[in-house]
Amino acid sequence: MNNKNSIRKQMRETLSKLTKPQYEDYSYKIACTLYEDEAWKQAKVIGLTVSKQPEVDTYQLIRKAWESGKQVVVPKCDPNERRLSFRTLNEFSQLESVFYGLFEPIEEVTQEVDADSIDLLIVPGLAYTKEGYRLGFGGGYYDRYLQNYHGMTISLAFTDQLVPQFLVEEHDIPVSQIITNHGVIKIK
Ligand SMILES: Nc1ncnc2c1ncn2[C@@H]1O[C@H](COP(=O)(O)OP(=O)(O)OP(=O)(O)O)[C@@H](O)[C@H]1O
Ligand SMILES: [Mg+2]
Repeated sequence: MNNKNSIRKQMRETLSKLTKPQYEDYSYKIACTLYEDEAWKQAKVIGLTVSKQPEVDTYQLIRKAWESGKQVVVPKCDPNERRLSFRTLNEFSQLESVFYGLFEPIEEVTQEVDADSIDLLIVPGLAYTKEGYRLGFGGGYYDRYLQNYHGMTISLAFTDQLVPQFLVEEHDIPVSQIITNHGVIKIK
C-alpha cells in the first residue's frame, strides 16, 4: 500500500474512535472559530461539502451561512471526468444521495456557479500537514478544481487529522488555512 493510502486507512480508524459527543464538541468549536475568521465574515458565496462522517460537521455551517445571508454552493461530482462543479443550495431538500452515500445538489432545482464566483472554499480532507497539504479521499477531485480556483481556501480538521508528513505529489495544492478544534494554522 502506498504512503497516502496507508495514512488514509489509519486516519479512518483513528477518526472512527471519536465518540458522538467529541465529534459534536470539536465540530462546534471549529465552527465557532470559522465564524470569527475574516474570510468567512467577508464571503458572500461559500463553497462547502455536505459532510459525511468522519468529516467535520458542515450542516451547522450551511445553516449559519443561510442565516447570515450568504449563498451556499455545494459540489456535484462527475465520476467519469473526476471533476467537480458547484451548485447553489437554498434548502437541504435540494440534495439527493447519488453515490458513496454522498449528498449532492439535484440538477433540476439548483444552478451551477463558476469558480470565480466563490469567495471562500471549505476544502475537505482526511489528513493535513501544518504546511497546508491535504490528503483527500483519493479521487483528485479537489486537486483538479483548485487548479482553476483562485479564491480563499480553508480546511477544517480535528486535531487528530494533523500528521507530520506524507508523500506530497506535484498535483497536490495546499490550502491557505486550517482550522482545528485547538485553533488556527495560517499558511499563506
Ligand atoms: N490536476 C490533476 N490533473 C490530473 N490528474 C490529477 C490532478 N490532480 C490529481 N490527479 C490524479 O488524481 C489521483 C488522486 O490524487 P490524490 O491522491 O492527490 O487525491 P486526493 O488529494 O486525496 O483527492 P481530492 O483532491 O479529491 O481530495 C491521482 O492519481 C492524481 O494523479
Ligand atoms: Mg491530492
